[in-house]
Amino acid sequence: MPSPRSSHDSPMPESVRAPGAPAGSTPHASWSPDSWKARPALQQPEWPDEAALDRVLKQLSGLPPLVFAGEARRLTGALAQAAAGRAFVLQAGDCSESFSEFSADAIRDKLRVILQMAVVLTYGAGVPVVKIGRIAGQFAKPRSSPTETVEGIELPAFRGHMVNDDIPVADARVPDPGRLIAAYHQSASTLNLLRAFTKGGFADLSQAHAWNQQFVASSAEGQRYERIAGEIDRALRFMAACGIDLAVEEALHQVDFFTSHEALILGYEQALTRQDSLTGDFYDCSAHMLWVGERTRQLDGAHIEFLSGIHNPVGCKVGPGADLAELECICERLNPGRVPGRLTLITRMGAPAVRDRLPPLLEGLTRKGHPVVWVCDPMHANTFLSETGHKTRRFDDIVDELRGFFEAHREVGTWPGGVHVELTGDDVTECLGGFGDIAEDQLHERYTTTCDPRLNARQAIDLAFRVAELLRG
Ligand code: PEP
Ligand code: CO
Repeated sequence: MPSPRSSHDSPMPESVRAPGAPAGSTPHASWSPDSWKARPALQQPEWPDEAALDRVLKQLSGLPPLVFAGEARRLTGALAQAAAGRAFVLQAGDCSESFSEFSADAIRDKLRVILQMAVVLTYGAGVPVVKIGRIAGQFAKPRSSPTETVEGIELPAFRGHMVNDDIPVADARVPDPGRLIAAYHQSASTLNLLRAFTKGGFADLSQAHAWNQQFVASSAEGQRYERIAGEIDRALRFMAACGIDLAVEEALHQVDFFTSHEALILGYEQALTRQDSLTGDFYDCSAHMLWVGERTRQLDGAHIEFLSGIHNPVGCKVGPGADLAELECICERLNPGRVPGRLTLITRMGAPAVRDRLPPLLEGLTRKGHPVVWVCDPMHANTFLSETGHKTRRFDDIVDELRGFFEAHREVGTWPGGVHVELTGDDVTECLGGFGDIAEDQLHERYTTTCDPRLNARQAIDLAFRVAELLRG
């Protein structure tokens, strides 16, 4: 977590502002936190009681912000480094956070696998890693179909615990605005713990061994990780022996860890949008970074409108169907001032498409001077239904899309700026292959996701080693 002091820190540093871009400019004069309402908003729940929803939104708008404007600016600055090829983004967490699997242990285990991946990347590739969780707010899901059939019964789709429940019962699927409040409070306690873990000693580099959970440590990847942790220990001892006072080196003891989620339920995001007293700019204080999903990124739609006016760093998913002209318009809408770090494009093309579809987009947007942070989500276009009826992904397809992503960037001469993955700290069996070679008939063993299949901690660390190798080139 960035330090809370940043709530009142200096205005946006010059280094994150493009030459000539005015500080705090909103893209069009008529933007306001509710201007999205004049546009078509896809994927919004059909709340059964408008008055109850209004009461909840009013309550939310009076609650304290979850993050501070200065922290969001600090993330923009860190992402500007990734846009310039000097840092790598690791964005990771659940597909959909759960109200029922909410515990200190689950948060700690997710954080430690992310810290482990970051160590592998930093140590293995020698680049600073910008750490962003899909956490403390990732509670709403866009769906391809408004209904789903469970054991022959058609039900309204599960839309994330911020909206309805995943249990396959019709009543549980009715959107309940009280869940928006519950999501806010769960986000607040999750953030509280993350801030304590990342600033209070748990993320100290000397603890790198302790992040290796037992079921990981016994695997080949876990042992490979142990070797890195051992080398870090030796390096720390060497520095101390040279007379460097390690106690005063803040970077060894704390990490900056940022939060993000898909800005889907716009009433919730609007209610958490506040005007920064320092700059007068609007920030969506539900998370440091917000992104718009593949299903809701219509140029004239409500989601792009909302993101265009908040001053947080924002992201946009980009699927295999995206064309250059459309993407150029999205960049113009979301980052007219061409501020480095403001806009991250999260490409999710699928292993078979990435090598063909990505290079023209990289080339075209670079030619137009858009300072994009290019991040690869190798998960969402590689999903399929197994013979056993589980939504799953093959570890090999995930690695293949990543390889294609790096190849595309090498070909065009752009910087592969990061990776965006769905993972958990638990020993789940949701994605096929990887270490332990999970097979289709094992998926049912520990399949606990409420939405998309996640990498388990072993698979996640295995992936980090492969990304580090790709980064080294
Ligand atoms: C997601 O990130 O969970 C998701 C639904 O992604 P996309 O919008 O890329 O399909
Ligand atoms: Co997902």
